Amino acid sequence: MATIRLESAQDAAACDAIVAAAFGPGRYAKTAYRLREGVKPVAALSFVALEDARIVGTVRYWPVMIGGQAALMLGPIAIVADRQGQGIALALMNTSLAAAREAGHRAVVLVGDEPYYGRAGFKRIQPTGRITMPGPVDLSRVLGLALVEGALDQMAGEIRKARLDERVAAPGCALGLRAG
Ligand SMILES: CC(C)(COP(=O)(O)OP(=O)(O)OC[C@H]1O[C@@H](n2cnc3c(N)ncnc32)[C@H](O)[C@@H]1OP(=O)(O)O)[C@@H](O)C(=O)NCCC(=O)NCCS
Repeated sequence: MATIRLESAQDAAACDAIVAAAFGPGRYAKTAYRLREGVKPVAALSFVALEDARIVGTVRYWPVMIGGQAALMLGPIAIVADRQGQGIALALMNTSLAAAREAGHRAVVLVGDEPYYGRAGFKRIQPTGRITMPGPVDLSRVLGLALVEGALDQMAGEIRKARLDERVAAPGCALGLRAG
């Protein structure tokens, strides 16, 4: 059974390697990465899953703005290949989403498969296209979860970076900086 705890500075390289193995080099071309470039992930919501001191899973969140309102973007989330299908990603999401709710965040969005992320409560944004991304994306894969009742209903428009001024400092957090 995996243990879930906050990511520490020493974990960053292992987390980056898991994400790289899961998504491949093409990940930097994804529109979601445009929202991460030069912006730090939310440290209080970056969790890892451990089994016998081995990091087997990672989840990070980025701060975003949607139509002038603050929200979170979930991802990347990834599990090492030999430990997938054990419920580890769901445990990572449940732990981190509870922490986000506790911290007062109002809503979370992501781009992903509704049949999977629906397990953590995410639903397709309706009507499709109410919330858009700053680049090409299948809008039917834009999903959302309100942490405060009704919070997502008031959000519309393009998802934008939340804090352009906050540069990524730690090399291990530089997920978005290697783009291009
Ligand atoms: C997607 C990922 C994070 C899920 O992690 P995980 O720990 O294996 O997930 P869980 O164990 O919590 O859930 C596994 C279940 O979800 C299902 N599932 C996984 N990905 C799915 C998807 N894209 N759509 C529908 N169901 C999916 C599995 O079939 C499995 O079903 P079961 O419980 O009925 O056997 C992990 O497989 C991963 O890192 N994959 C590589 C990266 C990737 O493809 N990410 C997809 C982003 S949309």
